[in-house]
Amino acid sequence: MLNKEIEAAFNAQINAEFWSAYLYLSMSMHFAHEGFAGIANWFAVQFKEEQDHATIMMNYVNSRGGKVILEPIAAVDTEWNAPIDAFNHTLLHENKVTSLINDLYALATEKKDYATQSMLKWFIDEQVEEEETAGEYINTLKKIGDNGYGLYMFDKELAARTYTTPAPLANKN
Ligand code: FEO
Repeated sequence: MLNKEIEAAFNAQINAEFWSAYLYLSMSMHFAHEGFAGIANWFAVQFKEEQDHATIMMNYVNSRGGKVILEPIAAVDTEWNAPIDAFNHTLLHENKVTSLINDLYALATEKKDYATQSMLKWFIDEQVEEEETAGEYINTLKKIGDNGYGLYMFDKELAARTYTTPAPLANKN
């Protein structure tokens, strides 16, 4: 049986993952509207990944006999002045998510919940990747500055991103 405090922390994290999904969907729609189809694609994949993060956690809470409680998802921003602003926002947001995951891990450690510690390891690694990618794009966009051709090429590069089912969900099938 899942400890009640850990269950509540997972429910808060599930809401944060859906909030992340909603934020990236909003970014995707914004950049589609601005004519950046590639950036819109990249954030659309990000939107799916965040829903997967929530799904992995919901499956886990269920498997441990806990109850998932879905709360309302708070509003997200709808405008970014430039692609670099959206990626700065992404990095700041992912930093916050990392600290939430770390808090959850610390709680699991305190409660001697080894199964939760084990499942959270995938998320800890995932956060390293998410922060690294956002940081790389910020550096690239700083170099590009206002160069229209550079932005055109950046958009083309992001158009190539495809979705793959994350391991914890792929392993379930
Ligand atoms: Fe679910 Fe972007 O972390």
